Amino acid sequence: MCENLQMLKQGAEAKLYICNYLGKPTLIKERFKKNYRHPDLDTAITKERIKNEARSIVRAKVAGVKTPALYLVDFERRRIYMEHFEHSITVKDFIINVFTEDQNTEDGQSTFDSIATKIGETVRKLHDSNIIHGDLTTSNMLLVPKNNSEQNNTDWYQIDNIDIVMIDFGLSHIDTSAEDKGVDLYVLERAVISTHNDYPDLFWKILDAYKSYNINNTNEIISKFEEVRARGRKRTMVG
Ligand SMILES: Nc1ncnc2c1ncn2[C@@H]1O[C@H](COP(=O)(O)OP(=O)(O)OP(=O)(O)O)[C@@H](O)[C@H]1O
Ligand SMILES: [Mg+2]
Repeated sequence: MCENLQMLKQGAEAKLYICNYLGKPTLIKERFKKNYRHPDLDTAITKERIKNEARSIVRAKVAGVKTPALYLVDFERRRIYMEHFEHSITVKDFIINVFTEDQNTEDGQSTFDSIATKIGETVRKLHDSNIIHGDLTTSNMLLVPKNNSEQNNTDWYQIDNIDIVMIDFGLSHIDTSAEDKGVDLYVLERAVISTHNDYPDLFWKILDAYKSYNINNTNEIISKFEEVRARGRKRTMVG
């Protein structure tokens, strides 16, 4: 059923394979067993993660956020089959490996700003649909050329032709509270600061776009975010 199965990479939670499923480039995410957990608990946690991931991928799409198409869920084999974006790059790799070379050019700067804006708007769309991602990092965002199959030599600076695709929804949940949205932003801030410490303004650009995309409820979310942040800081000071 799955042709040309190849291992792509091994993550912290899952092995990723690529293959051709029903004629389409497909990525299989297979969550492996954790031996330090009781087998029943491990099965339950894994099933929950797979469910979260499948549910949020679909829900995000309805919210107008690009996600991979979902092809198949196989609880027995702990697998989820989804659309594989063959010509994609993570936002993390783009910033570290591509953008760094061009950061002093005008094209580079405006692309960087556009990406930050798109990230802010995308996270805001998720939150407006009450989707809490749970693991917002720049490795869980892909840049994808709009006509995926046709591009071989992507010019990442043609930003109008690039979509942001959100992935890795295993830790997501649905919640209407400003608190959970604030925590989601805090997770993103920590991730951006530690991964992209050369670009201290990146998170602020993202947050600016987040705030201006929709003004409903913004103040409450931002003040929760600041609260969570202050708590986090206190925790690190206490040690
Ligand atoms: N649909 C996809 N198309 C293209 N690449 C993908 C896709 N899904 C995942 N990837 C690539 O695989 C990496 C890991 O995927 P994912 O984040 O879903 O798994 P993970 O187990 O959480 O891995 P990690 O611990 O590295 O975050 C992504 O950062 C991305 O580079
Ligand atoms: Mg990930």
